[in-house]
Amino acid sequence: MLRDAVIAALLVGCGGTDPVALLDDAEIAQVASMSPRPPVPDDPTNRVADDPAAARLGQFLFFDPRLSANGDVSCASCHDPGLGFADGKALAEGVGTTGRHAPTVLDSAWNRWFFWDGRADSAWAQALGPVENPIEHGSSRLEVARHLHDDGDLRSAYEAIFGDLPPLDDTSRFPEGAARPDPANPDAAHNVAWSAMAEADRTAIDVVFANFGKAIAAYERRLVLGDSRFDAFVAAAVAGEDGAGTLTDEEVAGLRTFIGPAGCTDCHFGPSLTNGEFHNIGLGPRDWLTPDQGRWEGVDLVLTDPFNGQGAFSDAPDAPEVDERLRWLGNSSNNLGAFKTPSLRTAALSPPYFHGGHFDTLAEVVDYYVALEEQPDYGHTEGTLTRLALTDEAKAELVAFLEALPGDLPSDELLEAPPDPF
Ligand code: HEC
Ligand code: HEC
Repeated sequence: MLRDAVIAALLVGCGGTDPVALLDDAEIAQVASMSPRPPVPDDPTNRVADDPAAARLGQFLFFDPRLSANGDVSCASCHDPGLGFADGKALAEGVGTTGRHAPTVLDSAWNRWFFWDGRADSAWAQALGPVENPIEHGSSRLEVARHLHDDGDLRSAYEAIFGDLPPLDDTSRFPEGAARPDPANPDAAHNVAWSAMAEADRTAIDVVFANFGKAIAAYERRLVLGDSRFDAFVAAAVAGEDGAGTLTDEEVAGLRTFIGPAGCTDCHFGPSLTNGEFHNIGLGPRDWLTPDQGRWEGVDLVLTDPFNGQGAFSDAPDAPEVDERLRWLGNSSNNLGAFKTPSLRTAALSPPYFHGGHFDTLAEVVDYYVALEEQPDYGHTEGTLTRLALTDEAKAELVAFLEALPGDLPSDELLEAPPDPF
């Protein structure tokens, strides 16, 4: 008690004003739901999600450019730790140029869905996509398995966690070169090679491919931002304590606009400042983008993905959280042109913004929501969004609030390629 009083006196002595005093009780109740973040949720579909050895192997693979058609592209090419685990570009560039903007991997452990269209329902299923995408890594699942098999270090790291690799030395069963299913291009050499393999051997490679994704996901789960000044502010507000030194008055004003007249919390609520769902916010065409149906396509893709949580490679196909996500999932015209609401805790770290890198700065994003004057290629702007009457000062405060959200990056050893996979 005495110590607290002394500290409080010191703070007053330093001239700190209490930003918590700027909120009324209703506002405090509202911000209490935005912090602290709960622990990273379990992923029962990935039995190695919390295995440190798998995370180390996954970290090594995340930075390994040998897993690409030209030997230059790794996950880190587009998810660069120095650029907020994104790439700073409107459209990501791997072996070719992608059609969407690379989101950050930071804090993705809380994601309900992965990709802008939510076509993956777990981090490990997500990680399989870029590897076989001809414009990202341009590799194939058989080449991934061969890479794990032929590199002595990778092989021992993999086998210590997942057990023996299939006998890839037997090239009559496991051909050299690319092999992956590609039903849209049945005559492509990689599809012909894949189809020629025995079904049991194809399954064995799919298991290795899924395990590869699970190791990467175990690493990504650790890429979590530390608590930020915003969390310190909310903790003080909820405890009825002095919040001096947490948020500035300008940032608190932005917070009040965010939860109040700007209506941002219609979609950006909860500890990650997202509802985890999909909305059409009305973004119009850009000359670097092709028209994009977003979630409309994502629903069918996730339901038919053999690597989804209910599939044969999931470690918990009957888990309640899997069931809850997939069982009732259906498509509706509301999904046309809808994209995933991103976390705003990471936004300030990874410009540009939106699924197509539409805007370079948070100030432009705020101007977009205020004016709301674009017409989307597909679907229509959701009715909850309306033009906002915000002064220039209020807009600047909103930006200041968004900039105060990120906490510190994860520890340094998670931000670089480790020397070995174990
Ligand atoms: C060529 C650049 C590129 C490479 C290489 C790449 N990504 Fe991505 N990543 C993207 C883009 C673009 C998206 C969004 C694509 C979409 O939504 O359709 C994305 C999405 C993601 C997401 C989803 C995040 C979210 O919130 O939905 C994660 C996680 C991710 N990538 C991890 C990885 C991993 C792991 C690898 C390596 C196996 C990888 N990426 C390789 C560009 C890349
Ligand atoms: C109707 C739901 C909805 C409301 C309301 C809403 N947003 Fe969003 N927000 C989204 C969706 C969906 C996206 C992604 C859209 C896309 O890329 O097509 C997004 C993206 C963003 C991004 C970009 C993040 C990134 O990493 O690219 C920022 C910043 C943002 N919103 C801030 C705000 C602010 C500030 C407000 C209030 C003025 C607001 N949003 C209101 C749904 C909403």
